[in-house]
Amino acid sequence: MSTITLATTKGGAGKTTTAQMIIGAIHRLGYTIGVIDCDENRTLSRWLENTSKMAIETSVVLDESLVVKEIQKFQRKYDCVIVDTPAGYHQSTIFAMGCSDLVLIPLQLSYGDVTEADKTYRLVKSTGRMAGKKIRARLIYTDYVPKTKIAKKVRKAVDDLSLPALKTRLHHLVAFKDLTFTGDVPKKGTAGAQGQLLVRELHELGALPFMEEQLEDRNVVVAFKEAS
Ligand SMILES: Nc1ncnc2c1ncn2[C@@H]1O[C@H](COP(=O)(O)OP(=O)(O)OP(=O)(O)O)[C@@H](O)[C@H]1O
Ligand SMILES: [Mg+2]
Repeated sequence: MSTITLATTKGGAGKTTTAQMIIGAIHRLGYTIGVIDCDENRTLSRWLENTSKMAIETSVVLDESLVVKEIQKFQRKYDCVIVDTPAGYHQSTIFAMGCSDLVLIPLQLSYGDVTEADKTYRLVKSTGRMAGKKIRARLIYTDYVPKTKIAKKVRKAVDDLSLPALKTRLHHLVAFKDLTFTGDVPKKGTAGAQGQLLVRELHELGALPFMEEQLEDRNVVVAFKEAS
């Protein structure tokens, strides 16, 4: 069992998109997932209920005092629990962090994304100290445009702050927007390859311990190399 929370105080950084990609990839591998949506906009839960064809139990939890109880209930039922959180500072996000094995902090290519990712990273570490456990946190670049000056600047800013980032980046691709209409999480092309690489990296990190085998698909690696 594993719990992954998507969080950053920055709005529109890619929390829900990253959650959708992880859910799609894990679901396709046949593992069970429960989703907790703490965002009053309910973007992820509405998408799962109305647009996506995946049958995944989803709970919208807007009362922060119920977040831990609901996550623990899902932890007993599913291989993997994915928690999506709202932008800004919310007690529900802190509670979700406290229940997590890994917090993923999406950021796009702007200075504001870096500063909010930094604050969020420090919130995870504080929460871990408070809870007396080690909660891993990793940044993930979304809406990423490789080989640009801005990408280099943002990566340098992240490195200067010693913030750990995943190797896998979700590039600026229409497919990531299209899934919000179709409900289909891309499994082919560059977006599909990046989704699979993301899950593989999470597995290598130990954040998906229920997965028994190393995910091996050379086509994915080749597709990604061609695209980047
Ligand atoms: N890799 C990407 N390529 C193209 N568009 C992207 C990518 N990642 C995110 N987006 C788009 O950016 C917008 C914000 O993404 P998303 O909703 O995932 O962010 P969020 O952090 O969940 O936002 P909020 O704080 O409002 O919950 C969406 O329109 C989404 O489709
Ligand atoms: Mg969102």
